[in-house]
Amino acid sequence: MTVTTEAPYSGLAAVYDRWMAADRVPYQSWATHVTDRFEEACVPVRSVLDLCCGTGMMLTMLQERGYEVTGVDASAQMLAHARRRAAAGTRLHLAALPSPLIAGTGPFDAVTCCYDGVNYFASPGQLEAVLAQVRGLLRPGGVFVFDLGTRRSFQQMATVGRTCADFGDFAYLWDTRPIGGTPRFDYLVTVFTREEDGRYTRTDETHRQRWFSTRELQEAVTGAGLETVLVCDDYGTAAPGDHTLRETWTVRRPR
Ligand SMILES: C[S@@+](CC[C@H](N)C(=O)[O-])C[C@H]1O[C@@H](n2cnc3c(N)ncnc32)[C@H](O)[C@@H]1O
Repeated sequence: MTVTTEAPYSGLAAVYDRWMAADRVPYQSWATHVTDRFEEACVPVRSVLDLCCGTGMMLTMLQERGYEVTGVDASAQMLAHARRRAAAGTRLHLAALPSPLIAGTGPFDAVTCCYDGVNYFASPGQLEAVLAQVRGLLRPGGVFVFDLGTRRSFQQMATVGRTCADFGDFAYLWDTRPIGGTPRFDYLVTVFTREEDGRYTRTDETHRQRWFSTRELQEAVTGAGLETVLVCDDYGTAAPGDHTLRETWTVRRPR
């Protein structure tokens, strides 16, 4: 067996879509929430920038709904899948946010960031820097819709500790390690994939994520020159509460 230690999503990219399908990630209903927010925006939305677009699940769903979508992600392996899935000619940028590499790509009517991309930003300062970059890429009146896992969801994952699943041709181990006394957690992700010769390749990745408090989020939004429009429990319309595991935020660039 070959064992490699890789950057996040290097090995995971190959199995990501099947893993998400098995977890029944409700991308279609997430896309409906996102496009509902677009329709409420005070500018018509046609061009969209999808941050942390991964394998392009949300990006292609938005394209199927008629939006012109550009993607950005820090993982070349995830983007390779997005390239195969997205409409021909889709602009996809390899960049770790915030990044000067996407400075000239706007303006966009809307920006999205779905499925915990924000939880990868290491600090409130990095979050604010990304939000400031989003402001610069948005047209006045344009909206940024993003989700993030809450403190409760991280604590729940830590309680579960280690999980695993065997899909036959691949398997994974997922180990949650809180970094004591901080909002940061390391997820140690081991993926075994069966090669054509029947042997398995093992890939070890460390994903460092964190939760942000409502105050940190609000200060970053305001500090970046954006204003909060709506905060929801998951991808619904109810306000978040103590039980909330994922929040969706809609913020806008003032006109
Ligand atoms: C859980 S995946 C979500 C992918 C996709 N949005 C989806 O809904 O399936 C998180 C993605 O965020 C990307 N990512 C993490 N940190 C990033 C950063 N600083 N800049 C750009 N992409 C980043 C990862 O490469 C990964 O593709």
